[in-house]
Amino acid sequence: MPEHDPPYPDPYLPPTFAGDPRTPPPRRLRRHDDTDDAGPVTGVLDAALAEDQRWSTWSAVEKGQRGPEPRPEWVVTADAAVDTELGVLKTGKEADVFLVERAVPGDDARRSLLAAKRYRDLDHRAFRRDTVYTEDRRVRRTRDRRALDRKSRYGRQVAAGQWAAAEFAALGELWSAGVPVPYPVQIDGNEILMEFVGTSDGTVHEAAPRLARTRPDADLLASWWDQVRDAMAVLARLGYTHGDLSPYNVLADGDRLVVIDLPQVVDLVANPFGTELLLRDCRTMAAWFASRGLDADADELFAALLAQAW
Ligand SMILES: Nc1ncnc2c1ncn2[C@@H]1O[C@H](COP(=O)(O)OP(=O)(O)OP(=O)(O)O)[C@@H](O)[C@H]1O
Ligand SMILES: [Mg+2]
Repeated sequence: MPEHDPPYPDPYLPPTFAGDPRTPPPRRLRRHDDTDDAGPVTGVLDAALAEDQRWSTWSAVEKGQRGPEPRPEWVVTADAAVDTELGVLKTGKEADVFLVERAVPGDDARRSLLAAKRYRDLDHRAFRRDTVYTEDRRVRRTRDRRALDRKSRYGRQVAAGQWAAAEFAALGELWSAGVPVPYPVQIDGNEILMEFVGTSDGTVHEAAPRLARTRPDADLLASWWDQVRDAMAVLARLGYTHGDLSPYNVLADGDRLVVIDLPQVVDLVANPFGTELLLRDCRTMAAWFASRGLDADADELFAALLAQAW
């Protein structure tokens, strides 16, 4: 173990050497101008990829699968970019989130950190969200509908892809509306690549803590409550509530809060449980702020949001 034992296995080490410090680090990517590699160019380049690397999938996905414009400057779009998996940020019941670097080797200006959220289509994936939230979502392809009903392997793939697509669409719409959510870079099947929320000095990467883990002083607490209310208000004006809002789905990026985990975003009008879920979101958030000493009133927030939703 490292010198200062982290409370849990260091999430930023690649899985291969998370458990075993003797495992050698992944091979470094060779520079394109390496001269001792003769042979076809693609062969050389592919041989240069280590096991935890792949060519950037940016060009492989269609335009509609990329994030909204105007695209932030840090998004790396070069064909020469390589995705390197740096480790697991969090494994969950429905999805696993990995830290991925997308960078043009040797070009520090074109280097970005991404969170890759991969929805599971495995047998043990829990479907806890599938009932209440999908009331208003139609599945048009009948084979998909039947597969979902049977929960066949194909069905699980469809469900995983739909959750990913739903979250990607929500992130794009909300980001464009100014809600503090990670910028969605692209979607490819079950995988969403989005802005990594956290800090990095180039070597050490630290994900922003979840709100639940923080102990803000009174001023910061008040500012964060304002930010939560503002974010929920923008959502309400668009006709939505998060649907699973909690201090575990809000990251504290310094003084700024970032809302995450949006696959089940709820349409307040179309979903018969919309108002209930809005109230639950208000109560969960107000309860956390109250537990930290702020006079946060869930009913007052709920009323204010309802008034803006219609
Ligand atoms: N963009 C991001 N930047 C940094 N960390 C992230 C990002 N997205 C997710 N994470 C980390 O991964 C965790 C899980 O993400 P998310 O809540 O979206 O997935 P989930 O499948 O719902 O997981 P859980 O069941 O734990 O809520 C987050 O709590 C956060 O710690
Ligand atoms: Mg979550």
